[in-house]
Amino acid sequence: MPTLLHIDSSPLYGRSVSRELTAAFVTQWRASHPDGRVVDRDLNATAMPPINAEWVGAVYTPEEGRTPQQKEILSLSDSLLAELEEADEYVFGVPMHNFGVPSVLKLWIDQIARVGRTFSYTDGRPKGLIIGKKATFIIATGGIYHAQTHMASFNFVEPYLRSVFGFLGLTDATFLTAAGTAALNQGHDRHAFLAPHLQAVKTHLQSLQGVAA
Ligand SMILES: Cc1cc2nc3c(=O)[nH]c(=O)nc-3n(C[C@H](O)[C@H](O)[C@H](O)COP(=O)(O)O)c2cc1C
Repeated sequence: MPTLLHIDSSPLYGRSVSRELTAAFVTQWRASHPDGRVVDRDLNATAMPPINAEWVGAVYTPEEGRTPQQKEILSLSDSLLAELEEADEYVFGVPMHNFGVPSVLKLWIDQIARVGRTFSYTDGRPKGLIIGKKATFIIATGGIYHAQTHMASFNFVEPYLRSVFGFLGLTDATFLTAAGTAALNQGHDRHAFLAPHLQAVKTHLQSLQGVAA
């Protein structure tokens, strides 16, 4: 049964552009995968503590030697990793916050980036272990950060996501960006703003199915 892991990270819910676009992705994915399963992981509704020394100690203790307390410390990370490992495809909603990813997404990444689970060092070289998966990142930014403009260097969202997920082995990734959402606060019509981005989601899903067929 194909499984889609749907991860959102905008605190704005009904006003969020990234959430509206990932919801459209999920609706269309369900339509084309009637036997599929969608797992929703709302990072704004998930209590995720920052990692601490005990967490790091537990990760670097061989599994068979972990104490019950260390197992408990890693239980959230284990559940999030299970969601990642069981899914075939991922869709992420990512708002730009302060030129980077939202803190809840960074907390999640810290929970799932684990030696021996999502990456390893073989012969001193890093090797990503999230393989054979497809990811779609749907990013929303208030400003516009097009390449070759002086604002491009302020955008740490897509470069960071490409680097960290590439490191973890997830290289089959598509990035769709709804740029300039600040216009919505200045009276720009939301329906008109979203229309090309909803179309981009639809076209992308059609191309995913074409590849899969
Ligand atoms: C806390 C916060 C920080 C933000 N920082 C930036 C920023 O650095 N650059 C930018 O272009 N937009 C910034 N924005 C605007 C968001 O990127 C924009 O509202 C986008 O639509 C967020 O995605 P969402 O609609 O899915 O929440 C920020 C918004 C919030 C709430």
